[in-house]
Amino acid sequence: MTDLPKFTVPGLSTQDAATIADALQGRLHALNDLALTLKHIHWNVVGPHFIAVHEMIDPQVDAVRLMVDAIAERIATLGAEPQGTPGALVAARSWDDYSIGRAGAIEHLGALDVVYQGVISDHRKAAKEVDDLDDVTHDLLVAHLAELELFHWFVRAHLESSGGTLSTDGATGEKDSAQQAGETAQLGTTE
Ligand SMILES: [Fe+2]
Repeated sequence: MTDLPKFTVPGLSTQDAATIADALQGRLHALNDLALTLKHIHWNVVGPHFIAVHEMIDPQVDAVRLMVDAIAERIATLGAEPQGTPGALVAARSWDDYSIGRAGAIEHLGALDVVYQGVISDHRKAAKEVDDLDDVTHDLLVAHLAELELFHWFVRAHLESSGGTLSTDGATGEKDSAQQAGETAQLGTTE
């Protein structure tokens, strides 16, 4: 738990500021991790859809880095201390490192579907958690959600059949999802 700040924004208790900063710190770690993971995919994607996926990823990295900056600055504005170092991230995170190296575009997108599911679900939880405490932080997280959900759709559109089914449906974890997406693409399933 974040230490009680010595001061915070007018109209907010330092206790509530600490609670909000704590929720934001979790999002700061998750989005720092996401920005690095997206770059890792940008560098390791291979195969027929290389350029489409390689180029799709960079604007997502830029947008996520802006979200990271806004979250860290909100934590500081609240009088708390944003933790932005890799060591703090690794020590605090509850998830594993992205597990796929050089792989085909569809495999990476299958895995990225799982990554975005986790990030977005937790972002939504954090937005709900701060909803009654701080409209400014709530608005910030909701604005991020709109963008993150759009990016998730970009990913999922590659995995969706003309019948509206996701090739990653029912997959349990990144590797499983990557494999399922890859196999479905090879079969050329359009149902
Ligand atoms: Fe690049």
